[in-house]
Amino acid sequence: MSNRDAAPGFGLYVHWPFCATKCPYCDFNSHVRESVDHGAWARALVSEMEHMAALRPGGPLTSIFFGGGTPSLMDPCTVEAVLSAAEQLWGYTDDIEITLEANPTSVEAEKFKTFRAAGVNRLSIGVQALDDNDLKALGRLHSVAEALATYDLARAVFPRVSFDLIYARVGQTPDAWEGELKEALTLGADHLSLYQLTLEPGTPFHALAAKGALTLPDEDESAGMYDITQSLCAEAGLPAYEISNHARPGAACRHNLTYWRLGDYVGVGPGAHGRLTVGPARLATETLLSPESWLAAVGEHGHGICQQTELSPVSCGEEYLMMALRLGEGLSLARFEALSGAPFDLPRAHVLIEEKLLEHDGDRLRANPRGRPVLNRLIAELIA
Ligand SMILES: C[S@@+](CC[C@H](N)C(=O)[O-])C[C@H]1O[C@@H](n2cnc3c(N)ncnc32)[C@H](O)[C@@H]1O
Ligand code: SF4
Repeated sequence: MSNRDAAPGFGLYVHWPFCATKCPYCDFNSHVRESVDHGAWARALVSEMEHMAALRPGGPLTSIFFGGGTPSLMDPCTVEAVLSAAEQLWGYTDDIEITLEANPTSVEAEKFKTFRAAGVNRLSIGVQALDDNDLKALGRLHSVAEALATYDLARAVFPRVSFDLIYARVGQTPDAWEGELKEALTLGADHLSLYQLTLEPGTPFHALAAKGALTLPDEDESAGMYDITQSLCAEAGLPAYEISNHARPGAACRHNLTYWRLGDYVGVGPGAHGRLTVGPARLATETLLSPESWLAAVGEHGHGICQQTELSPVSCGEEYLMMALRLGEGLSLARFEALSGAPFDLPRAHVLIEEKLLEHDGDRLRANPRGRPVLNRLIAELIA
């Protein structure tokens, strides 16, 4: 891997907080609204970007990510306005990656060509399951056939396409997941995000599980499904480069790598987080969660930031450790020292290295396949 490939990058995250319905497992900042004033949202997103660029000027951007919510519900004019402002404010690298998250419904697929014309060059589709009954149980508005048609269309329009699946679903056996993942791997995507279903507090799924009305596969079954995921994807040439993300060499999502490598990223839209290097300081920004409050705040002050704090070198080091250990490439000891102002305490890692949960190799410290499933324990021991 060249140094350039391992560079943290500089990203822009744009949060679109609206969805056609709220899925019962989802705790993302996503809301259903009867109507959205698209012109007002475009103006507000651009205003907040201008505020952020005054705070953190300079570029160029290496990636932009439209996340949600459901950004494929955006008016393409909004995407275009955001992209042309981004290019003016920070500039682009020649090979900038511009991703948009899409739900696989035909209404959204109709807009693909206009998103592409606006500059989007990577689409991430929320397929979630290749089983119609399970899609219904997940509260999804699309069928498997619709998801596959959307995927085919996306591949014809965008240079890069990824899709998401959720496994360890209600009633799913390891054998059923193995069959489904094999089918998914025949579709030829060069990037897959494969998430184990989690019960998020505050969601209908969480409430049903608390009442005993919904049961997920037990720990052994889920661990089995995780192992199947690792081995099938590796065999197919898409090893995990992060806990839940698999890609062919060179096809990793550069924007997400910027988070995990603790690069700088600007976050705009409701509930977006940012990490900005300003002179010697590293700032953490967070915007108002509620779409209406955020829109009103931007109208009044030009931004919806509700928290802006300077991170201490120690917390930068800890954050880097937590993020980078998720990655197949692991943590760079030199980058840890640059961020935290102190060398990494390697003797503290020795027990975990002896237990064969961590590996140390030159500048790199990584969780090995046995360590990854118990990452929280590793992190707790390393920063305790
Ligand atoms: C911002 S969301 C979704 C983008 C898009 N709105 C969609 O639903 O397709 C990103 C991904 O998180 C995953 N996800 C959301 N909630 C989850 C949960 N409780 N457990 C596991 N994965 C989840 C889904 O795979 C989803 O595609
Ligand atoms: S999973 Fe996607 S479509 Fe469903 S509520 Fe969450 S963000 Fe919206």
